[in-house]
Amino acid sequence: MRIIFRFGGIALLVAAIVILAVLPFATSFVEQWTRRDVELRSRLVFNSARDQVIGLLTRNETDRLAGLFERIASDERVLAIGYCDGEELRSPTRGMPASFACEKAARSDSESFSTITSEGRDILVSSFPLKVSGRTGHLVVLHDLSYADQRGGEARNYLFLALAGVAFGAAALAALIAAFIMRRWLASIRQALDNARAGAAGHPEQENIIPLGQEIRDVLQELESSRRTIDAAHTDWNPDTLRAALANELSGSEVIVVSNREPYIHNQGKDGGISLQIPASGLVSALEPVVRACGGTWVAHGSGTADRETVDANDRVPVPPAHPTYTLRRVWLTEEEQDGYYYGAANEGLWPLCHIAFVRPIFREQDWQYYRSVNEKFADAVVAEAKSEDPIILVQDYHFGLLPRMIRNRLPQATIVTFWHIPWPNAETFGICPWREEIIDGLLGSSILGFHTQAHCNNFLDAVDSYVESRIDRELDSVTYGGEETLIRPYPISIEWPPTALEGQKPVEECRRIVRERLGLPPEMRIGVGIERFDYTKGILDRMQAIDALLTDNPQWKGNFAFVQVAAPTRSKLANYRQLQEEAEALAREINEKHGMPGYEPIKLLVRHHEPDEVFELFRAADLCIVSSLHDGMNLVAKEFVAARDDEEGVLILSAFAGASRELSEALIVNPYNAHAMGLAINRALTMPQPEQRERMRLMRDQVKERNVYRWAGQMLLAASRLRKRQRIRRLVSSGRKRAAANV
Ligand code: F6P
Repeated sequence: MRIIFRFGGIALLVAAIVILAVLPFATSFVEQWTRRDVELRSRLVFNSARDQVIGLLTRNETDRLAGLFERIASDERVLAIGYCDGEELRSPTRGMPASFACEKAARSDSESFSTITSEGRDILVSSFPLKVSGRTGHLVVLHDLSYADQRGGEARNYLFLALAGVAFGAAALAALIAAFIMRRWLASIRQALDNARAGAAGHPEQENIIPLGQEIRDVLQELESSRRTIDAAHTDWNPDTLRAALANELSGSEVIVVSNREPYIHNQGKDGGISLQIPASGLVSALEPVVRACGGTWVAHGSGTADRETVDANDRVPVPPAHPTYTLRRVWLTEEEQDGYYYGAANEGLWPLCHIAFVRPIFREQDWQYYRSVNEKFADAVVAEAKSEDPIILVQDYHFGLLPRMIRNRLPQATIVTFWHIPWPNAETFGICPWREEIIDGLLGSSILGFHTQAHCNNFLDAVDSYVESRIDRELDSVTYGGEETLIRPYPISIEWPPTALEGQKPVEECRRIVRERLGLPPEMRIGVGIERFDYTKGILDRMQAIDALLTDNPQWKGNFAFVQVAAPTRSKLANYRQLQEEAEALAREINEKHGMPGYEPIKLLVRHHEPDEVFELFRAADLCIVSSLHDGMNLVAKEFVAARDDEEGVLILSAFAGASRELSEALIVNPYNAHAMGLAINRALTMPQPEQRERMRLMRDQVKERNVYRWAGQMLLAASRLRKRQRIRRLVSSGRKRAAANV
């Protein structure tokens, strides 16, 4: 209905403009036509009276002449009549205006017409020459033109009414035709939707009604097939499925990953050579296998001491070094930039802000300036790497809160999928951040924004609700901000399955023996492990206190149980991190003194980076693993421990405040703030019967196997693909509307 009014209104407006333009011409045409009619009448009067007038004048019968003139003037349209003999007016009838003068009106040798005004009326004077007895005079006939004006006005009104009628009719017809075309076009889209839903080909005749229907049908069928791909691939995500999904759903699309930490670090070795390091980063261990499978470009900070020596002229290096499948593009940062952006804003500001571990965040304005300029620097690198207008860009983590908006501004058609690898705190906590609006604005430059858990998504939506003007759809979990929509989704990150680090591992029994030997422990010693970066969010001190509680409450474990804590130094420039290391070393000493015996130390603290195969060997040698994060987005150590245990034994003790606890519910879930309860959990793990261990481990392994990192990446990429198709449909629909409107 609206469309009918809209088209009808437009047609009426056009008609009104046409009428206003045409009316003055039509009016002047009617006036000329009426005047010619009056002239014609004068000529008729003259022709019919000429002979009689000549006879009466020749015979000088003045009275009869006056009588003749009065009879002619009795016609209501003739105002007056008379005869001009030179300048003398003879026998004028009663209606002759007093202002009439022969010298002005009757001078021409041929008939002439002129207009005079008398008492506000326009009068047409028609003058016809007559030869009477050798003298030339003029018969003058006067017509009142107000009759002509009146007739012209009437004609104008009729014309206006006629034009308005035609315009109204044309408007109604245009609206009906528009409605008809739009209905057919909508029917064509509906038909395409139905066909796509039914998976059927449309009837060719129907599809040809409006070719757009065919285009939309194709896109919808692609969309439908992508949904089916997700369902079909639900149970078996692996590098091949991921590659296939990418090839089917996003064929020809360019993929660019951005993170602060690079997947391969080249360092100067002590021997003068170059050594390769794989950093201790959950982000890297999750994302690297994905990029290895998909190819593309990974843009990251070149932080190694030999990084510059290993890149080409464009700062690119093919990786993995042994069998390259993608390009690492390094971005260089000055020391000041690293201090402000990485150590300051990201790790002294946002890290403690988002992890509720009771470490006060520090917000320095100077750091924020660096954070902004480094985000700009990465945006430059991404735009320089992009070969198309609409690449898929996967932005990683809290280092790049502003990057999605910066990229969106420069590549408006890009599909930007941002993943926030750490928790998102509640809105009140986030509210203390002086940069809160800017960060939210930056992140809402993304097409899709992912968190590990639904709880983090909800916290983010609450923060958006509290601090920026936007429209939030809680049912669809989307935010419309500045006219653009961002989908907010939980994507629980995971690890590759099977893990590369498991390749070449020795049988579990052998790992147990080798590790015990290496650590100087007797073969029958029970072992617990904890492996992470030396970070205050990981609850390393709390874990040690739990060991203390265990040995205090259950002294039978003294000499029979050792806890191996591997801690990779990290962010050591920051006081909080240095202090944590000192405190941990002191606490380990204290507990060892308290519960140790000659040849026995309950805690072995190994402060160094371990490569993935060493980590997996340790996992396989252990009886239990403790992940006691005070707050963690996901925690992949927990999943790696499960993945390492193909013997299906070993117990996982897992913090309730790590995202992983949502998925690995067969672990012994603990509150890391309760050392006593954690000590009880360790005792329970050490005494857990093997069948129960197997039962729990099997369920957790199934979970990690099924919900592996290929699924994580696949779901995000398929969501991106669906979004791109939806955007294509929207573009098609809007261009179709324009086309339909142009056809009207
Ligand atoms: O998710 C947080 C994270 O960025 C992870 O990638 C990783 O576990 C850790 O922090 C790495 O920190 P950094 O890159 O500062 O060493």
